[in-house]
Amino acid sequence: MYHAKYIIPALLVFLAVVTFPFWAKGKAVYRVELKLPANQTECIEDTETMRTSHMQILDHWRDKVVREGERVYTNAKGVKYSMSLTNTCMSCHSDKEKFCDKCHNSVGVAPYCWNCHLTTPKGGK
Ligand code: HEC
Ligand code: HEC
Ligand code: HEC
Repeated sequence: MYHAKYIIPALLVFLAVVTFPFWAKGKAVYRVELKLPANQTECIEDTETMRTSHMQILDHWRDKVVREGERVYTNAKGVKYSMSLTNTCMSCHSDKEKFCDKCHNSVGVAPYCWNCHLTTPKGGK
């Protein structure tokens, strides 16, 4: 046996590293530092809902707008928002790179939305 007392800890470290993407799913992967909107304190829904379900919200918005021609979203508190990826989300989350991209890169997702949608609300969709 070569240096068994080093091999065991090394093996544990190795296992921790290779299994990280599995046990880190959920809260830990979000521990990237995000650039939050400076002049806002709340998102359109509570933070936990946004973390877990913003993709479904965006899907729902798209269907409402594209299929039903409806453009107003009323949140859990009764506040109304225009269902627009660019004009609503990106007007608060104006630093896409340090917010959306930063978190997506850390979890390995790359939404293709920006092929068509503008990243800043300059009268775009
Ligand atoms: C009115 C401004 C505003 C709008 C509009 C807005 N956000 Fe937010 N968003 C915020 C703020 C402020 C926070 C941080 C809340 C906190 O610190 O608890 C946040 C948090 C989030 C988070 C969680 C970040 C984390 O800390 O894990 C996600 C994801 C998110 N927003 C995505 C979106 C998406 C997608 C849209 C459009 C559907 C959107 N936001 C629209 C202001 C906004
Ligand atoms: C705190 C981390 C975090 C932030 C911040 C965040 N996202 Fe996400 N987003 C995710 C995760 C995780 C997924 C993948 C979820 C899944 O696969 O179930 C995702 C998926 C998505 C998807 C679906 C992609 C697909 O191919 O299915 C869209 C669209 C999206 N995010 C838009 C945004 C936008 C726009 C912003 C910025 C306003 C944003 N997200 C900010 C974590 C985040
Ligand atoms: C091939 C081009 C294309 C791609 C890619 C695309 N969209 Fe769209 N999207 C459109 C068009 C066109 C509309 C209709 C615009 C309108 O009527 O205001 C639309 C409308 C929407 C709307 C409602 C209106 C608005 O201005 O935001 C949402 C929300 C939306 N898309 C989200 C997404 C998300 C999230 C993704 C990525 C997962 C995505 N889209 C990818 C073309 C695209």
